[in-house]
Amino acid sequence: MIDQYGRRINYARISITDLCNLRCQYCMPEEGVTKKDCGEILRLEDFFIIARNLIALGIDKIRLTGGEPLVRRGIIKLVEWIGQLPGLRDFAMTTNGLLLPLYAEGLKAAGLQRLNISLDTTDSDKYRRITRGGDVRQALAGLEKAMAVGFRRIKINVVLIKGFNDDEVENFVEMTKKRPLDVRFIELMPFAGQHEFAADKYMPGEDIIKRYPEMVAETADDPSAPARYYRLPGAPGRVGLIEPMSHRFCDACNRIRITADGQLLSCLHSRAETDLKPYLNDEAGMQEQILYSIKHKPITHRLAEGSLMERDMGKIGG
Ligand code: GTP
Ligand code: 5AD
Ligand code: SF4
Repeated sequence: MIDQYGRRINYARISITDLCNLRCQYCMPEEGVTKKDCGEILRLEDFFIIARNLIALGIDKIRLTGGEPLVRRGIIKLVEWIGQLPGLRDFAMTTNGLLLPLYAEGLKAAGLQRLNISLDTTDSDKYRRITRGGDVRQALAGLEKAMAVGFRRIKINVVLIKGFNDDEVENFVEMTKKRPLDVRFIELMPFAGQHEFAADKYMPGEDIIKRYPEMVAETADDPSAPARYYRLPGAPGRVGLIEPMSHRFCDACNRIRITADGQLLSCLHSRAETDLKPYLNDEAGMQEQILYSIKHKPITHRLAEGSLMERDMGKIGG
């Protein structure tokens, strides 16, 4: 599918729940999200129908997100269904990792190819603070389990927070020297609900690379991916930067998002939503809606000009 600016859209991020077992300060309010009526949140079967239609239209990369996708009951079944769809080239999940000790093996067996794990600090007190109660040992155990069951090219997502984890950059970079892991630093984005948190904690990703003159830039394996990658000489893993604030990557954007309540968002920052729920039994109708929405995908977001995201990240799935 090609949008009106000539961008080829081949990547769908599907949020399968807006619930999460953590409450990261930059992501959601302390009380968490209000649980939607069961009628609003799609059934697993519905996500499968949407995935099938997306793939029929040319999507070949699907990522399951949340909230936290592993809190959704039946997740392994859904992975198995989607994983079998012909035409799917890349099938991944973004998770906070807490439930991976339980699920990594099942996910691998069900056909999931890749995992990205969010981990902003390896310090247990700081982790408890930023996630409002999480246990970092569980997240680290999740990472180990994922590696042990054979997931490859695992990426760790670190949201850069000035005054909180800028002192851990070195430790994270060090990880890439020891293990075949990619560590990606993400610039903090201001969301409507959390903008006070974000106000003075933004830190440009570029600052990190400046600390390592020996870091070598790599050519992108996927030119549409928002991350830029670097490598320390001889290191098995890469260091990545995701810079939504300072380095807009919208002109190469290849993705759309589906929310847990069945809305198609053609841009992370767009107010325009297309409700796919009415078309769950009407494949032609659904495909028409998807094509229409993609055609009208906005050219860019306006975060750098001071505008805020409307929905919390947790509800969009990152
Ligand atoms: P790979 O397929 O492994 O490259 O993963 P990914 O980077 O597409 O997925 P992941 O969920 O790990 O994304 C990491 C973070 O990048 C997200 O949580 C967002 O913070 C940010 N991000 C990804 N896509 C976009 C986008 O289209 N716009 C903006 N502003 N940020 C994005
Ligand atoms: N800014 C940047 N990244 C964010 N994430 C969640 N909220 C924000 C934000 N305000 C990231 C998480 C995770 C992914 C799902 O989204 O760290 O990697
Ligand atoms: Fe949950 Fe991820 Fe949001 Fe943290 S950033 S509260 S782990 S959805």
